[in-house]
Amino acid sequence: MIIKPKTRGFICTTAHPDGCKEHVRSQIEYVQGEGNLEKSGKNVLVIGASTGYGLASRIVPAFGGNCPTIGVFFEKPGTENRTGSAGWYNSVAFEEFAAQKGLYAKSFNGDAFSHELKKEVIDTIKNDWGHVDMIVYSLASPRRTDPDTGEVYKSVLKPIGAPYSQKNLNTDTGEVTSVSIEAAEGDDILNTEKVMGGEDWEMWINDLNEAGLLADGFTTVAYSYIGPELTFPIYTNGTIGKAKEHVEKTAAAINGKFGEGSAYVSVNKALVTQASSAIPVVPLYISLLYKVMKENGTHEGCIEQIYRLFSDHLYHTGSPKLDEKGRIRIDDLEMAGEVQSAVMDAWQKVDTDNLTEISDFEGYRSEFLKLFGFGLNGVDYTQETNPVREMPSAT
Ligand SMILES: NC(=O)c1ccc[n+]([C@@H]2O[C@H](COP(=O)([O-])OP(=O)(O)OC[C@H]3O[C@@H](n4cnc5c(N)ncnc54)[C@H](O)[C@@H]3O)[C@@H](O)[C@H]2O)c1
Repeated sequence: MIIKPKTRGFICTTAHPDGCKEHVRSQIEYVQGEGNLEKSGKNVLVIGASTGYGLASRIVPAFGGNCPTIGVFFEKPGTENRTGSAGWYNSVAFEEFAAQKGLYAKSFNGDAFSHELKKEVIDTIKNDWGHVDMIVYSLASPRRTDPDTGEVYKSVLKPIGAPYSQKNLNTDTGEVTSVSIEAAEGDDILNTEKVMGGEDWEMWINDLNEAGLLADGFTTVAYSYIGPELTFPIYTNGTIGKAKEHVEKTAAAINGKFGEGSAYVSVNKALVTQASSAIPVVPLYISLLYKVMKENGTHEGCIEQIYRLFSDHLYHTGSPKLDEKGRIRIDDLEMAGEVQSAVMDAWQKVDTDNLTEISDFEGYRSEFLKLFGFGLNGVDYTQETNPVREMPSAT
């Protein structure tokens, strides 16, 4: 099959297996270029391991620390006439590169929220490892079925208390328009908390504990975002922000149960991922942010962010450096005063006519396509390729 990108808004319905492989390879090469982490050899479970921050969180300990990894994700394998999802191809590629290095890597494709998948993963950890040292929780999902009640919760991206209007970017057409979003109502906050809050993270930790699989001194980390005031209504002070507050409370609860330093929340930088491209206003902010950060040499992608998370905090011989609320802040370069004031200046000015000049919309678009394996060097996109790729650990 010759595979081309088919994009619709913030979705690309095709993915290129060879491009995804190159994308994974380039992240591995970055990590190997940076050198080994101070601590290594730990068993690492990554929940949400196939794309974005979670994929980087699997690559960094594996290729920077020789760590055995288990990855959990919800992806689609390809068929003869339909491409699989990018996360499927990324994970196939990850496993292939891991095998070349002699690294243990197993992957579980299914619903991380379910009891069944947790049990499968726990049985494997019991049989293969005996304990787990690091659990990275990097799920981003629009819905969750409560495994006890069967009720389906849907998360929403809405402001709380009042509607919110702001500039917005149509990433298909490059038009800067405005968007108005109605305030949350009914159970919107609760539902979003149920999906993107910490309940499922805590279930994983409790289930691993009950199975006797948490190593002494284990660490777990979940990811959050804060960002600039202009996106506060839709993010930090909105329904998703409430869910992230719940994640922070969950970290405190895990620390209360297992001791300080067991659970961390890391606040990460705004980056183009499948999850972030669905948030109104954020793609325009990211396009402006990339321009400023690339110009002043501080731009990072997921792999650079997560390498820094492990090398400066989690796998550093010292303790992680925390903010006044006990969070790790790898969004420090994004939030630097001069970066934010340059982005806010540009925000006031940006419109459809000057978008390509004052923002890095080109960079945004090419990063978005790379998420699906398009635009990578070394791939001939005019050639037929096989969309069916087996997961090595499943065979
Ligand atoms: N992208 C950003 O700008 C940004 C910034 C800061 C923090 N974060 C946070 O990082 C975390 C990861 O986000 P991302 O942007 O990397 O997202 P992403 O969309 O790239 O990745 C989501 C992952 O979750 C998995 N997943 C979704 N539903 C699942 C299910 N039911 N069962 C198993 N796996 C499932 C997917 O397969 C994928 O591996 C989120 O907590 C997000 O809020 C993202």
